[in-house]
Amino acid sequence: MKHQTIIVLDFGGQYNQLIARRVRECAVYCEVLPYHTPLNEILRREPIGIIFTGGPNSIYLDDSPRPDPAIFEQNIPILGICYGIHAMAYSLGGHVASPDSREYGKMITYFNTESLLFQELPQQGITWMSHSDYIDQLPDGFSSTAHTDACPVAAMEDPSRKLYGVQFHPEVLHTENGTAILRNYLYRICGAKGDWTMKDYAKNTIASLREKIGDGKVLLALSGGVDSSVAAALLSRAVGSQLTCIFVDHGLMRKNEGDEVQAAFSNQELNFVRVNAGERFLGKLKGISEPEQKRKIIGEEFIRVFEDEAKKIGKVDFLVQGTIYPDVIESGAGDAAVIKSHHNVGGLPDYVDFKEILEPLRLLFKDETRALGRELGLPDYLVNRQPFPGPGLAIRIIGEITPQKVAILQDADAIFREEIARAQWDQHVQQYFAVLTSMRSVGVMGDGRTYDYTLALRGVTTTDFMTADWARIPYDILERVSNRIINEVRGINRIVYDITSKPPATIEFE
Ligand code: XMP
Repeated sequence: MKHQTIIVLDFGGQYNQLIARRVRECAVYCEVLPYHTPLNEILRREPIGIIFTGGPNSIYLDDSPRPDPAIFEQNIPILGICYGIHAMAYSLGGHVASPDSREYGKMITYFNTESLLFQELPQQGITWMSHSDYIDQLPDGFSSTAHTDACPVAAMEDPSRKLYGVQFHPEVLHTENGTAILRNYLYRICGAKGDWTMKDYAKNTIASLREKIGDGKVLLALSGGVDSSVAAALLSRAVGSQLTCIFVDHGLMRKNEGDEVQAAFSNQELNFVRVNAGERFLGKLKGISEPEQKRKIIGEEFIRVFEDEAKKIGKVDFLVQGTIYPDVIESGAGDAAVIKSHHNVGGLPDYVDFKEILEPLRLLFKDETRALGRELGLPDYLVNRQPFPGPGLAIRIIGEITPQKVAILQDADAIFREEIARAQWDQHVQQYFAVLTSMRSVGVMGDGRTYDYTLALRGVTTTDFMTADWARIPYDILERVSNRIINEVRGINRIVYDITSKPPATIEFE
């Protein structure tokens, strides 16, 4: 399963994952590594090219991150982007300066289209600049291949050593023809063949999973989310009935979700176990209103239920986890390298008797995971599913949870999702849902007084879910949602829309 590989060396810029995604969109596999990764580690991966990312530092300061100078002598094509071009110029004897006036944002840039990097591009176009330092003296052997009115070196190269750099960001959409520039680097300079496609990935991964698993038994905790669903589809294609998927339905899923998950997997060749544990969970949650306590109870109970089911299967050889690539990327700059370890089901490995963990999605970005799911024939409603928290609706019902409240929220939330989808706003809002607050207020319906719950609607735009803005959903959509919920769902007499960003709020209410 060997693909041509590009290494993205991370100098701490904000677009690093974006570079990796763009490279992969060009059908070339790539990995992100911290800038201080030892050279032999990089060479071991036999990269056909290396990209230096941007970063917030100024290269001439003492404690700025620097590449190993030997990296320039490997005859591997290197593309430096933004801080990356400064790192290249500085390391090879050029000079980087800080200008009197900042050049930031969209710039008209003039290209030398004889450069391999800019071939078949218009001679001028808009590029996106986000670093004020610039190269005022090129290293020996280099020439400038692009400039702006203020910046003499918007790109440089020494083709004899296969070294290239751009001051602007080709990976962001503000740069016209940015992808064409990256494609030129990959295909004209690195000799890429374009061997990274989801069709090939599915075929190769299925074959290698088959080989690894042999006639072993495999266990997977299916949550119904995108990652575990795609992992299940992959394993089922690889080893069929040797796979058991346990789907713990805690009764706090969205409307019809449990049945949808079951339907999607009932036609696959695998052992699908659905545990309807709603009563068990609601029993444990009775009388509990403190958010952290609710989360802990659900986490604990989940493990208990899973353990009970796993015991019936006995010893398994492999446990599958749906870890994806953004969960394993280590950040390149900063003192504390953060590795977020993601467990679809927290704590499971301690409780189940197994030999080894399989993580078949470890190399994939979220959009690649979705593409793989489509390739494997999963239905769109599963593949395009928005994130849904493990504790489910329990953290979207403020205060104590009752079966009635769960039913009210499921109905209201389904209407919200239906109307957003009907208006085709689901492409613009990364997460949207309803929350049943514990507030009751007075209303009037017909000629009578009501004293019912307030429902909150939440919609956010975000790229990483770490920060988020509230989504500007048009009033007429909100109006339709409000009318339908009031008319169709009993128990709600007031609806509000949440207009706080994260921070200071979080996306979920609890
Ligand atoms: P917050 O509320 O922290 O949510 O802004 C950020 C993102 O994480 C999701 N979320 C969870 N996902 N288990 C999960 O798998 C959880 O316990 C959990 N809590 C929050 C949330 O839906 C949002 O996408």
